Amino acid sequence: MNTPRLVTTAAELRAATTELLNKAAAGNPSRVPTLALVPTMGALHEGHASLMGAARADNDVVTASVFVNPLQFDDPADLERYPRTLDADLELLGRAGVDLVFAPSEEEMYPGGAPLVRVSAGAMGTRWEGAVRPGHFDGVLTVVAKLFHLAAPAVPARFRAYFGQKDAQQVALIRRMVADLSFNVEVVGVPIVRAADGLAESSRNRFLDAGQRQAALVLSRALQLLKDRAAAGEPLDLPAAVELVSAQPGVELDYFEVVDPQTLEPLPGDAGQPLAGPALALLAARVGPVRLIDNALLP
Ligand code: PAJ
Repeated sequence: MNTPRLVTTAAELRAATTELLNKAAAGNPSRVPTLALVPTMGALHEGHASLMGAARADNDVVTASVFVNPLQFDDPADLERYPRTLDADLELLGRAGVDLVFAPSEEEMYPGGAPLVRVSAGAMGTRWEGAVRPGHFDGVLTVVAKLFHLAAPAVPARFRAYFGQKDAQQVALIRRMVADLSFNVEVVGVPIVRAADGLAESSRNRFLDAGQRQAALVLSRALQLLKDRAAAGEPLDLPAAVELVSAQPGVELDYFEVVDPQTLEPLPGDAGQPLAGPALALLAARVGPVRLIDNALLP
């Protein structure tokens, strides 16, 4: 296992990135090295490990960031309770072959306190997860924009950033931000990692007891139902999938919709027809103490 280099300031991050990129380019000056950034909030699990693996496979230098971003929490209790497990995180990042870990303090990221100027997610940030967490996506985009600036190569290199499809609205918004605001980074989406029982891996799963976890499995089952229908070229019958979830005791469904994968606008009901093009089934539900989200790309 290699031990990733831990840096906590922007200056150290820049110096270490430059050193590693120069090393990667040495001996072959005509080849432009690649740099990957994988932003996280820590409490790392197999889902995060898969992002690290994808980044490691395709890039010369891999940087992971670990920062619990207060701007994206609308509930102070949720921020307080967010698990912080840096030692275990560093171990996982080492096993994944990450080169550099950027774990800044709040003071380092927001030296003047909470920033007055922020990135706005616009209308796309006010529906689905944004509807129940006001300001959440502005907070996400603001910290991701900062991380892009702080982690970007200062010597010639290609820059890529890796995000999980688990947070479908987040990655769609980050793609829009990069396109709309001309960020010089290529966004790579990585498929959802699920536990053997089908539950999408999440740092919040640790708050579910055995019964709640069992109940939560209805979410991935309902999505699988839609995937099977889409794959068979059949009409989706979303109402039947919604009914499956609604009938599960202990699971309180918030939303379950089929949307355009890029804009997240709802697609018209299927009217008994199979899907006409790519779609995304998106859901959120409360199970016991936690809010779970899950999704599936269709077909
Ligand atoms: P965090 O919740 O730590 O997630 C970091 C990355 O891991 C995100 O891109 C997320 O989509 C991905 N991820 C989490 N669970 C996954 C799973 N089961 N399968 C695949 N990928 C998974 O998302 C954030 O942090 C923050 O909002 C952040 C982007 C770091 C900004 O603060």
